[in-house]
Amino acid sequence: MCGIVAAIGSRKVAPLLLQGLQRLEYRGYDSAGLATVAPGQLHCCKAEGKLVNLREKLEKTPVAGCCGIGHTRWATHGKPDARNAHPQLDEAGQVAVVQNGIIENHRPLRQHLEQRGSRFNSDTDTEVIPHLVAQALANLPDTVPPTDRLRVAVAQAVQQLEGAYALAVIWLGQPEELVVVRYHAPLLIGLGEGEFFCASDTPALADVASSIVSLEDGEMARLTPLGVELFDGSGQRIQRTPQPLRGGNYTADKRQFRHFMLKEIHEQADVAAGWVERCLAAPIDEGLTTALQNVQRVQLLACGTSRHAALVGAHLLEQLAGVPSSVHYASEFRYAPPPLLPQTLTIGVTQSGETADTLAALTIEMERRRALEPNSPPRLLGITNRPDSSLGRLVPHILDLKAGVETGVAATKTFLGQMLAFYAIALHMASQHQSASAQVTACRQALAQLPEQLSRMLHAMDQCCADLAHGFAETKDVIYLGRGINYPIALEGALKLKEISYIHAEGYPAGEMKHGPIALLDQHVPVVSIATPGPVFEKVLSNAQEAKARDARLIGIGPVCADTEIFDVLLPIPSVPELVSPLLTVVPMQLLAYHVAAHRGLDVDQPRNLAKSVTVE
Ligand code: F6R
Repeated sequence: MCGIVAAIGSRKVAPLLLQGLQRLEYRGYDSAGLATVAPGQLHCCKAEGKLVNLREKLEKTPVAGCCGIGHTRWATHGKPDARNAHPQLDEAGQVAVVQNGIIENHRPLRQHLEQRGSRFNSDTDTEVIPHLVAQALANLPDTVPPTDRLRVAVAQAVQQLEGAYALAVIWLGQPEELVVVRYHAPLLIGLGEGEFFCASDTPALADVASSIVSLEDGEMARLTPLGVELFDGSGQRIQRTPQPLRGGNYTADKRQFRHFMLKEIHEQADVAAGWVERCLAAPIDEGLTTALQNVQRVQLLACGTSRHAALVGAHLLEQLAGVPSSVHYASEFRYAPPPLLPQTLTIGVTQSGETADTLAALTIEMERRRALEPNSPPRLLGITNRPDSSLGRLVPHILDLKAGVETGVAATKTFLGQMLAFYAIALHMASQHQSASAQVTACRQALAQLPEQLSRMLHAMDQCCADLAHGFAETKDVIYLGRGINYPIALEGALKLKEISYIHAEGYPAGEMKHGPIALLDQHVPVVSIATPGPVFEKVLSNAQEAKARDARLIGIGPVCADTEIFDVLLPIPSVPELVSPLLTVVPMQLLAYHVAAHRGLDVDQPRNLAKSVTVE
């Protein structure tokens, strides 16, 4: 996580850096800082908390300079305070560094530097870097020309680093240049009119750059007011053609809503409308049709909410299309991938397209597949809301969610988009395999109604969930139950509540309750149970009854019918085939979590300890 920006040109740089950081705040928001350099002066300004605090500080004490670096932090090493915020400086205050990633060997490096007399000011892993750069600068022979000194010193420093990082460095000795390096963490160069930028992600480059150059792992760039020079890992100059920066709407507007999350929940009817057209159209996309041909099995790699969408996806692929499918935590897969089987499609699911574990798992799979089947291109597909992300550059095929910017850290409309992407894939594969035709027809018919149903439900459900949220003021634990295709929705409901309200919640397959978790239940633990008509409807109701018998307050999510009268409160959804129901049952889950958190007065859009894009392992 963390977002870094850097800029150099002829304009005062601090406002440009702040604007870039604003667009990267989704990557971390526990502290922020920037450093600028001008002849004879290097200024650094840092503040704990959100970017607004840094902005206020800079208004009181503006900093000069047309070259600078900035950072918005999600703490890994060291508490989120101003001392540990970036930039980190060397002891003499001449070298400043911002970093996104983790320096895994920072402890031995620090020990070594301390033994040689360096004194450290922070608890961060990053602080070793300015020390190493300063040391390298001091030891460079005079034969290294001034314009090469910073680049060579940074190259020597990064040779000693282990881990994954993207970093930007400025130096008082050469105030008209900055050096950036990428190694397993995202970093892009932006080319503007006589000014040059670098950032962790494209939104920070929108409005200032017209084209971008992406750095590959191990590459380095030197930016000056005259242009950008690229170098490979061995210090050789390389050339790369810039790509036009595709315009995206990165400006976020809450409209009439109190929080972005609520707005994004309400935008789901539009996301569905876009997808339903694509789900019902065949083929979905030409390149994708080829990737899906002759697939015998599917493995899905994802984290968090995206993994829950993948669980829904696997259920659809198996039950609708008859294709055996497995879901893996990307963080587990990368260290223990299952044995290779031929004709396997691997799908990486990540709304941000930047999740380090998902990217690493996909990279490993790509390498394994290339070794197994050297003559055929690896079958890899990415499902993301950011086709311009690292994922977009990694895999040969992308299914773009087209859900629009999601600003709230808790994923909502991208989750719905991910599920819909799986309906599109499963329906397409079902037509290839000619399987489950009655279910396929029912599913298509139900999907056609979805946008309208969602729109009506969102309006009706909002107030119900707001009223229900009052009863959660003292709640400490909540249990979510679901079965079959709605089990992942129970997991998602619990995750949403945990993330934004900080209430402990767990999702279980309803049939598992009696095997242990039932011991948790009493009158203080509400149970949210998804009960949609289908083969196990009666069993779900029995599981709910078992909870009620332990005095738990029962909140049901399902259609209004005689059977659902057992619930103390019912959050009603329209009556639809069970296979389509997750697209509706998720809405009350999201709204309930939102209203509970909003009622508690919490920072719904930027909950503590989280970030929208998890770029560290
Ligand atoms: C939950 C949430 C996280 C993400 C997870 C993966 O609301 O946002 O659990 O789902 O960090 O992120 P992506 O989808 O970007 O790979």
